[in-house]
Amino acid sequence: MPTRREFVRGCIIASAGVAAAGGLYGAASLLAPEPPAPQLRRVDYFGAALVTGPAVRGVPLLPLLVAPDGAIAGNPAPRSVPGGVLGWYRYCAHEQSLPLQPGFPTDDERLRYFATKDKLESAPMAGDAWWADKVGEVANVADFAPGKGAPVAWRSAGMQGKNIITATLVRAPGEVVYEDRDLQRVVEEGFAARTASGGTILGFVTFCPHFCCVMGWHESPLAKRRSEGPGAQNVWDALYCNCHDVVCDALRIRRDFFVSPAR
Ligand code: FES
Repeated sequence: MPTRREFVRGCIIASAGVAAAGGLYGAASLLAPEPPAPQLRRVDYFGAALVTGPAVRGVPLLPLLVAPDGAIAGNPAPRSVPGGVLGWYRYCAHEQSLPLQPGFPTDDERLRYFATKDKLESAPMAGDAWWADKVGEVANVADFAPGKGAPVAWRSAGMQGKNIITATLVRAPGEVVYEDRDLQRVVEEGFAARTASGGTILGFVTFCPHFCCVMGWHESPLAKRRSEGPGAQNVWDALYCNCHDVVCDALRIRRDFFVSPAR
């Protein structure tokens, strides 16, 4: 057992060793070549406005095309977005997803109802999973009454895990505005579709802009409970993420940007 004097002396020597090591490391750092700067690029997008929660931005829109028979498809290259919208999905570690690669072979951009096992188990408890028996079918405008929403997959036939690219389709329950103005510009640019009766269909990227969980519309029992009672905030008629309470407003579209790894 060391005496108190030996113990204190040992501590001083150990401290000196750490300091010396730090000095050497510091000197080595000065000599080391600068690491290459990460290649980043700015990605502009239209998206739902963030209402509450710890995210720094809202969730992007997926541009839509509607066929004469009402089938809804994603539009990877609307005219006003240089490089197309595949870049909008390049966050939350989906940067390398095969369906986001420009050369991904697909001749079918249609959106199909899609749900993971977890979602199929939890969403019906929220009481509005009308799409549960349609999983795998092509989404159609005729399925969406005002206020209805559904989870879908895009360009993902035969894909698994991170390679499944998902979106949430919503028929807006009311008037949608763009930067507090009319939505017409967003519609003309192909980022929102009109129904024959004048309703608005929007598609949203599902990856939460906070820590990448999955946002949903009318899917979360928690969102339903939180919306009940006098004075409660209505997070049911919103894009909602269970994890840390991020809420985005599907009726308010904004132009914004984020920074993603370069291709
Ligand atoms: S709120 Fe945190 S991941 Fe969605």
